[in-house]
Amino acid sequence: MAIEPKQFDASLRGTHEGHEVKRLDPDNPPYYLPISDEVEIFRAAYRARLPVLLKGPTGCGKTRFVEHMAHKLAGEHDGPSELITVACHEDLTGSDLVGRYLIQADQTLWIDGPLTQAARRGAICYLDEIVEARKDTTVLIHPLSDHRRMLPIEKRGELLNAHPAFLLVISYNPGYQSIQKNLKHSTRQRFITIEFNYPPLEKETEIIAHESGADRDTAEQLALLGAKIRNLKGAGLEEGVSTRLLIYAGELIKNDIAPRRAATVAVTWSLTDEPESKAAIDEVVKAIFP
Ligand SMILES: Nc1ncnc2c1ncn2[C@@H]1O[C@H](COP(=O)(O)OP(=O)(O)OP(=O)(O)O)[C@@H](O)[C@H]1O
Ligand SMILES: [Mg+2]
Repeated sequence: MAIEPKQFDASLRGTHEGHEVKRLDPDNPPYYLPISDEVEIFRAAYRARLPVLLKGPTGCGKTRFVEHMAHKLAGEHDGPSELITVACHEDLTGSDLVGRYLIQADQTLWIDGPLTQAARRGAICYLDEIVEARKDTTVLIHPLSDHRRMLPIEKRGELLNAHPAFLLVISYNPGYQSIQKNLKHSTRQRFITIEFNYPPLEKETEIIAHESGADRDTAEQLALLGAKIRNLKGAGLEEGVSTRLLIYAGELIKNDIAPRRAATVAVTWSLTDEPESKAAIDEVVKAIFP
């Protein structure tokens, strides 16, 4: 019984469990408003093939940024072929990333996992929330993210040299990691790190207006709401409100929900269950949307 590596069957693209394969269109990158010099840094890192770690709170633009950059870089010389994103979770194993044998009728087929696909085809591989994955995944990431640029595929006895266009990008949110789930130094010191945070008021206004379609004044009020809630330190809030939630509020308002109500359901109730924090946020909501 011949054991053949499964070549990239178009029907499997993007449908493999737990990951997403994006075709890149350099002429239509998803909207991203730069906050600082992150675009230049990422481009330089890609040219030097330095792996990138994106660090920052939930809903502040990390995923959107990678998508935007992947599309842009695809149009440049020796750019990436695709963007392959894996949402990491606590059951994600090394085999989920590298691949596995599949028994189908009377055949055994090897199916490349998303990391292997990316390394073979010259994609940008984005491992989202990497600290959530099982420990055995770091063994795979290390040789791929230093000068070796290779992926050991133990089950096949193969040492895959990464395609020249391949780049590994990982993300993590330092806010709610337990000590055990922190990134190990041997991992983090293989990446350059771009820190993300909530955008400043004017930029967040622009993002909310663009993404939600709400008018400028509403977007500005929502951005102000965001800034004020993030200042509510000590009110039991684990994490500030994300740009994502502010956009949701804008979308509700755009769809005829009264602003104060939209802020309550999209922001206050989504953020916390703590009565004290809720009351504190309510005060801010009422002040902005009287
Ligand atoms: N700088 C930005 N330019 C354009 N859109 C942005 C920007 N920052 C945030 N957004 C908007 O906020 C939404 C949430 O951002 P995104 O999904 O990229 O967050 P994230 O940092 O990946 O969050 P998580 O850690 O939860 O995955 C995006 O869908 C986008 O609409
Ligand atoms: Mg994300």
